[in-house]
Amino acid sequence: MLRNIARRSFSSTAANPYKVTVLGAAGGIGQPLSLLLKLNHRVTGLNLYDLKGAKGVAADVSHVPTNSVVQGFTPDEEGGLEKALTGADVVLIPAGVPRKPGMTRDDLFNINAGIVRDLASAIADHAPNAAVLVISNPVNSTVPIVREVLKAKGVYNKKKLFGVTTLDVLRSSRFLSEVVNTDPTTEKVTVVGGHSGLTIVPLLSQTKHKSVLESNKEAREALTHRIQFGGDEVVQAKNGAGSATLSMAQAGARFAGSVLKGFDGEKDVIEPTFIENPVFASEGIDFFATNVTLGPNGVEHIHALGELADYEDEMIAVAKETLKKNIAKGANFVAQSK
Ligand code: 2OP
Repeated sequence: MLRNIARRSFSSTAANPYKVTVLGAAGGIGQPLSLLLKLNHRVTGLNLYDLKGAKGVAADVSHVPTNSVVQGFTPDEEGGLEKALTGADVVLIPAGVPRKPGMTRDDLFNINAGIVRDLASAIADHAPNAAVLVISNPVNSTVPIVREVLKAKGVYNKKKLFGVTTLDVLRSSRFLSEVVNTDPTTEKVTVVGGHSGLTIVPLLSQTKHKSVLESNKEAREALTHRIQFGGDEVVQAKNGAGSATLSMAQAGARFAGSVLKGFDGEKDVIEPTFIENPVFASEGIDFFATNVTLGPNGVEHIHALGELADYEDEMIAVAKETLKKNIAKGANFVAQSK
């Protein structure tokens, strides 16, 4: 009897079981991200790893009554990282240090590059088929770092490596809705390029507010600037206590949810993300965020940029200059670490 009740009440609505691992789960982004992933019915196993504190976060999150089993892992136990990664379908990496006021994301490179490199190496060894979602900044460089590490170990799959740029998309919806006075949940903005300052290019001409934004250059430029430097608003407001954690967690959870929807065969799951992309590869820029359709194997289709306004062409030209350097910096770091 009890067993029947248990079966009825806990039978999952998910089509497939998915194990998700968070590396850096006890940090500012990692904790709310873990909670949001616990609320996703597609996640059936949630492994939380951090240098310390992951077991506490796991115990805490595990009390939320959804269908997933949550486990915490730290390096104190033998093979903690290996256990956290084994069997993972999706690995999210929010590990690393955040910005302080006055810093750019690139200023984090020296600390976060080594952290991401070492975690990527463990992913290659213990979860070589997982989709890897990189949140740790500077994303424009950390994603190429992961690629180089996975490549060196012979397990790189370009369809399954993503830089999470979803926070730029969330900010665009929110900030645009404030300008045009609409419901932000109805605003969809494609953001291309990268994830830092001028490399963030919101394609406002492709929104339903094209004409109103084009008739008011000043408002359009102010909105664009706010989207590009939205992260700074949070860094300044937190005044030394870090950067965006809660909205970043929502962004990471949403993107992970989209990856899982794609795995489950849902149609038309389209998100912008920073991926290996042929669009400007001939110019030496082989990562670029554009809309992609997500499917059972990860990236199913990389969308073209579509029709652009002149001001967007100019912004993309500026973005490419920085991106080229950021990508090379990541790749060189791995080459030099060998
Ligand atoms: C941001 O955009 C933390 O990179 C993150 O605020």
